Amino acid sequence: MNAHQVNRRKLLGAAAGLTALAATDLYAAPSSAADWERIAQSYDVASDFVNLENGYYGIMARPVAEEFKRNIDYLNRYSSFHLRRQFDQAGMEQIRAQLALHTGVAAEELAITRGATESLQNLISNYRLLKRGDTIMYCNLDYDAMQYAMNALAQRHGAKVALVQIPEPVSRQAAIDVYEKALRQHPRTRLLLLTHLNHRTGFVLPVADIVKLAKSRGVDVIVDVAQSWGQLDFKLPDLGADFIGANLHKWVGAPLGTGFLYIRKERLADIGVERGDEDFAVTDTRSRVHSGTVNAAALMTIPAALKLHEEIGLANRGRRLRELRDYWVHQVRDLPSIQVLTPDDAGTYGAVTSFRVRGHTTPEANVALVNRLVEQYGVFTVMRKGPVGGACIRVTPGLFTRTADLDKLVAAIRELAVA
Ligand SMILES: Cc1ncc(COP(=O)(O)O)c(C=O)c1O
Repeated sequence: MNAHQVNRRKLLGAAAGLTALAATDLYAAPSSAADWERIAQSYDVASDFVNLENGYYGIMARPVAEEFKRNIDYLNRYSSFHLRRQFDQAGMEQIRAQLALHTGVAAEELAITRGATESLQNLISNYRLLKRGDTIMYCNLDYDAMQYAMNALAQRHGAKVALVQIPEPVSRQAAIDVYEKALRQHPRTRLLLLTHLNHRTGFVLPVADIVKLAKSRGVDVIVDVAQSWGQLDFKLPDLGADFIGANLHKWVGAPLGTGFLYIRKERLADIGVERGDEDFAVTDTRSRVHSGTVNAAALMTIPAALKLHEEIGLANRGRRLRELRDYWVHQVRDLPSIQVLTPDDAGTYGAVTSFRVRGHTTPEANVALVNRLVEQYGVFTVMRKGPVGGACIRVTPGLFTRTADLDKLVAAIRELAVA
């Protein structure tokens, strides 16, 4: 086959992952229960259990899953021809341009990654301003892999580690106070890691306020938006942070293995290139990522996921997820033996909320409860450890969750609460 035999239009379309999705208003600005039911029906989810563990990654809606399958088939046929002639340059750049519109920053400030872990590890481990005797700071609730990367960074540079303990119960002000105090106690802090929407408790940290506080003390901030991106209604500049790591496979609903990092243009020099990359200039953000051969079919599907995501609208999506979360939380919060770790105040939560049966604080006790929930009640959740009060159970609905699913959870929690 030579290039002339290739259907060029088709090639270009798929190169950017732009194969037309069936025109539909199914996802456009949903508001009524009927709208959400139609959207729920557009997800192919297993019906033999209730999946309330959607913090791991987000099930793709059918149009996105179908686009992904088309891209897998297309790539399998056109293979390196497509990657070398279209996707590696033009396709990736088109996606980066779409991500720029999606995030509210310039395309040149973004680099595509395989997910939040890669984004954040690259930002943390290549941070260049740390000196011997400096302090780096993170909290007990940050993601394990990022804590490891922060520890490794500190070790490499002879820096100290300051660990912030997020109090329980927590509030927006309590969180600001605890960081304010920690920054005062550790005046040599150079770098702070923040997790926007916490994967252990669901608490939404007032990141913009804490970034302001940190910046006023000359502290740089790396923000983990793995759980908040696509779940909460914001654009990257709203956080005020110079360094941000995200994925697209949780709340944007793109295929697994998709994400991006952001470095504010003026700060690019403060993050070193990834493992000596020479494919891109040091002045190019893309030199901060070197993933090797990636799952291109997944990346080619990003535009389809963004399209659907934006049709629904972030504010609508956030409202729906909080509505589902409130539905179960408000029925169990007052049970004497149930502790809900996530506050109810506006702006402090999204879809994710964790609870604990009073006295059940070990990981083992919570794994046992998670097992009971799934085996006895058909409700799937996950144990999380790390909060100061002990381990807990995380509950995360998705856009396909129905109130009938949550009724099962509520009934189960009521029984756990008296057992
Ligand atoms: C808060 C947080 N940070 C980072 C990650 C890692 O994200 P990824 O799967 O995109 O590597 C996760 C995933 O669960 C997370 O919840």
